[in-house]
Amino acid sequence: MTTRILGIESSCDETAAAIVVDGREILSSVVASQVEIHRKYGGVVPELASREHLRDIVPVVREALEQARLSLADIDAIGVTRGPGLIGSLLVGLTYGKVLAMSLGKPLVPVNHLEGHVHAVLLQAHLDKREPEMPAVCLIVSGGHTVLYEVKSELLPAGAARVSGLPSPSRFVYSRIGQTRDDAAGEAYDKVAKILALGYPGGPVMDQLAAHGNPEAIRFTPPVTKGNPHDFSFSGIKTAVLRHVRAHPEMQAEISARRGGALARGERKAEQLRPLCSAATLDLVASFQKSVTSDLVNRSLAAAEQRGVRSVLVSGGVAANSELRRTFAAQGPRAGFDVFFPSQALSTDNAAMIAAAAFSHLLAGELADNQLNAEANFPLA
Ligand code: KG4
Ligand code: ZN
Repeated sequence: MTTRILGIESSCDETAAAIVVDGREILSSVVASQVEIHRKYGGVVPELASREHLRDIVPVVREALEQARLSLADIDAIGVTRGPGLIGSLLVGLTYGKVLAMSLGKPLVPVNHLEGHVHAVLLQAHLDKREPEMPAVCLIVSGGHTVLYEVKSELLPAGAARVSGLPSPSRFVYSRIGQTRDDAAGEAYDKVAKILALGYPGGPVMDQLAAHGNPEAIRFTPPVTKGNPHDFSFSGIKTAVLRHVRAHPEMQAEISARRGGALARGERKAEQLRPLCSAATLDLVASFQKSVTSDLVNRSLAAAEQRGVRSVLVSGGVAANSELRRTFAAQGPRAGFDVFFPSQALSTDNAAMIAAAAFSHLLAGELADNQLNAEANFPLA
């Protein structure tokens, strides 16, 4: 017997739906991104995000069904993001999921968005036929989150095995090791991109521009997080970039030229911006990237060491960063760790990860009742 779950995700600025079988096999995954809408504001505008989710949710779910060649009657359960996220955004997906479940008479499974990100790595690992040894340490690093968890796998009772037909169904339990005390890493990228007039979102463009700069040019002081060495802090380095720019008037002139020129004309690709960046700016971008990614890698590996685990999972929008992947791939194995990343599409917000995370909760009978509400702050652990 197989279980087909329709996943629905609307926690931030992506409206997404996907169908996943038994928490592992992706039949379809559709994402409608709102990035073009929020770009001119330099960040997600919550009010606009909710309106776009309302517009997109029905066609996105319909497309996920069409791509999987299924109808709603073929779906066994609906998994929906309950939080954390923007409350107005969450409410659109959650309400739609709730109404669908009620009208179809199917179970509704509430999912923590962060648990979804953990499952994005596990979906990829399954595709790659390279399962991580558990327990693991998981770094979730995006525009909204930078957090480290320990993930343990726990066998579900025999009843769940009968329902699922799987030999040993398990669920995951989480404990939080550390989190950012101020900005998320992606937020720091976006803020630095705003300071330097490199467009929005900042991460992908800065990642490409960094390849043309010297990462050793500027030494930023590594953040100190007293009390918990596994916590993060990125606001200091963002302020250091601002101070650096203020101390270099020629950089300010260059920034004004980009802002009033290329960006105003909508030219925001890395290859369009690169000729408008001096060597000093490219060095600054490369040094910022080096500093942020080294910190993410060092703290994640230190946490894995401290917890005595072998596997490190990395997920979230910033997991797409090329320097982060390179550094983890080089330093992880050297220190005795296996590092796992999702594909680019599974790194950023999507609903396949929500449907995958919903599966074990469905088997465990952890279903929503009529009172289910969205939670803007919804800690995983
Ligand atoms: O997970 P995501 O799509 O949305 C949430 O924030 O939940 O992540 C978006 C964030 C943005 O801050 C963006 O600048 C960053 O991920 N990002 C990157 C890269 N691609 C996306 N940051 C660094 N390097 C990248 N290649
Ligand atoms: Zn996310």
